[in-house]
Amino acid sequence: MRMSQVLRQLQAEQSSSGRRPSLMERYADFLPVTDDTPKLGLGEGFTPLVHARTLGRAMGCPLLYLKVEGQSPTGSFKDRGMVLAVAKAVEAGAKAVMCASTGNTSASAAAYGAAAGIEVVVVLPRGRIAAGKMLQAHAAGARIVAVEGGFDDALQVVREIADDPEGGPAVTLVNSVNPYRLEGQKTAAFEVCEDLGGAPDYLSIPVGNAGNITAYWRGFGEYRAAGLVETAPRMLGFQAAGAAPLVLGHQVDDPQTIATAIRIGRPASGDMALAARDESGGLIEAVSDEEILDAYQDLARHEGIFCEPASAASVAGIRKVAAAGLIDPDATIVAVITGTGLKDPDTGATLVRPTLEAEPTAAAVRASLGW
Ligand code: F0G
Repeated sequence: MRMSQVLRQLQAEQSSSGRRPSLMERYADFLPVTDDTPKLGLGEGFTPLVHARTLGRAMGCPLLYLKVEGQSPTGSFKDRGMVLAVAKAVEAGAKAVMCASTGNTSASAAAYGAAAGIEVVVVLPRGRIAAGKMLQAHAAGARIVAVEGGFDDALQVVREIADDPEGGPAVTLVNSVNPYRLEGQKTAAFEVCEDLGGAPDYLSIPVGNAGNITAYWRGFGEYRAAGLVETAPRMLGFQAAGAAPLVLGHQVDDPQTIATAIRIGRPASGDMALAARDESGGLIEAVSDEEILDAYQDLARHEGIFCEPASAASVAGIRKVAAAGLIDPDATIVAVITGTGLKDPDTGATLVRPTLEAEPTAAAVRASLGW
């Protein structure tokens, strides 16, 4: 049996077994779960891989697919890693978890902490969190501390608190420096391989703190090592201009800009992201706000996928690299769409057109439409 058939059979078995397994059950062989790990799950994983026919064709990439992580329980890819990080924290006896965040990590930590029955503290850069993400942390009952500065400053604070056993109650840090986060997130690469029947030629992904690109690269590597796929993709990572270059790290101080999730000055997993780039023969580049917003609008208008601006960086990046002639038209490309657009109504306002007004009659509505 060919390897792609093995993968398809695996997928068929999973979807015909009646009950949808939790992410930890489904990939238990590849994850550090034990009999003592709490059975936590909100329906994470199993996100769709959508063929972006219109956008792909327009870019000269007819085999462009979107891994739509915005369909996760809290609306971002963070849930894959958070379920494991919180479950392992509970298994180890933690009473509280803590994170710094630009919004998605905190929304996910708040939800999984609520489900696990442990306290959640989130430290957020004041005034920079999209309204929907803020609301998620409030709704789940997290305690929220706003600090001056950017994400890098907030991460520094929570690392210090978690590292100091004398400083107060023991808390588990659930940022992506927690190893279980990346373990959980690597499962997205497994799903991509199962859906395509093999690894893609390219994997395009937004890069913020650089955890997710590291996790995908690990996931592809493990499926190859297990003999489930033969190849691994070239990893293409895209940061928001202002955050790049990845290697150097510098202050990011403009709170008004969009896509703050990928505008991070000192990515915590930067070295591993560079290794993923180099081992895969890929690249890490910056995309401008204009390029991001164009892709954000095009994804919504031409593919029906309303994502958050940071997520559109993966498509903006592919468009740029393809325009430079670097992509073979026969290549299979997966762009990761990391989160949903519903969390960020302020940037969403750029998509709003005037609402037509009419009396509540068929004739009046037709007239307002010019029909
Ligand atoms: N896309 C979205 C929607 C994000 O929220 C993030 C990170 C990224 C991409 C980048 O992923 O950090 O693994 O390279 N958001 C973090 C947060 C920083 O706090 O929610 P990364």
